Amino acid sequence: MAASTSGSSGQGTVAFEEGQLERPRWTGETPLSLLVGALISFKPLYSVMKFGARQVLISTAEKTNIPWREMTRKILESDVYKEMESIEDTSLVYPDYYLNPFHAYDEGNLSWLAAAEAEAATMSMVRRAIPYASSLDEANQIVRGNWLKAIEEHHQKYSQDIVIRDILDIGCSVGVSTRFLADKFPAAKLTGLDLSPYFLAVAQFKEKQSNPRTNPIRWIHANGESTGLPSKSYDIVSIAYVFHECPARAIKNLVNEAFRLLRPGGTFALTDNSPKSKILQELSPVLFTLMKSTEPFLDEYYLTDIEKVMTEAGFIKVTTILTDPRHRTVTATVPY
Ligand SMILES: C[S@@+](CC[C@H](N)C(=O)[O-])C[C@H]1O[C@@H](n2cnc3c(N)ncnc32)[C@H](O)[C@@H]1O
Repeated sequence: MAASTSGSSGQGTVAFEEGQLERPRWTGETPLSLLVGALISFKPLYSVMKFGARQVLISTAEKTNIPWREMTRKILESDVYKEMESIEDTSLVYPDYYLNPFHAYDEGNLSWLAAAEAEAATMSMVRRAIPYASSLDEANQIVRGNWLKAIEEHHQKYSQDIVIRDILDIGCSVGVSTRFLADKFPAAKLTGLDLSPYFLAVAQFKEKQSNPRTNPIRWIHANGESTGLPSKSYDIVSIAYVFHECPARAIKNLVNEAFRLLRPGGTFALTDNSPKSKILQELSPVLFTLMKSTEPFLDEYYLTDIEKVMTEAGFIKVTTILTDPRHRTVTATVPY
């Protein structure tokens, strides 16, 4: 019998089903995973798959009423480029894993096209996670709502005497997760941090076009593995949908850096693909091959025991919840 984990859909409690395995068969050192790896490493085939993956992404998004090409065009034709100067740290040295082709973009996350498409891609990810939702809002209520609820409940349970004053969103991309955090915790000061100055430029541009906030969001171009920010300066550090894009050594560094940045009693929250998700374990061969062709570190992510990495970094109360059918949220506390 497959185990199941409870999560709230925002309209009552539903169970998100776990599969029978520890992780999908198409990851790690299994014959299936090695076969997919060999196919992807064959360059001509890789180019076709990369192209296919991109077409699938765009057409599935548009089928669910996400105007991918229209959103992209609007950003590319805007004044977003002017934000770059105030955002980019030109002395930043990128970690080598970040310079790989990625998500079917030759320059990875370091391009205007990737930045202009990132919000539509995020919406699409949320829609894919909840195919039975009738709208993006409904899907967000589950995916983002349950993630935020897991953070809030963990903090209330283990750090109720700590007022949430400062929140850091590492790997904030174009600011979608940062804005969700800012809306959920309006009294807190939010910082969004990312390695891509293009993504941050879009984040800053979009935020400038929105209603002003009492606490404006600050955007920082830095490596989350070694931010240069002062120790013990945040009450919550969140890392959403970043780890599956990182090699194991970066995941470890990011967790250690989060520990350093949090105040005693502070809460760390990671959300990303769950290796135990029944849906991910049963993904069709075509889909998982396409996915692996654009996500070079997926295997390393699935093979990393995140809870162990967190415990080794010094975190306590490490708690994992399947917050939607595809994603887990792992929360943890820095001891007092
Ligand atoms: C899928 S996006 C995150 C999405 C966003 N957090 C959300 O929930 O909508 C992953 C992001 O991680 C960033 N990233 C990857 N490695 C990083 C690192 N070492 N430091 C900071 N950002 C990193 C990438 O630039 C990218 O913007």
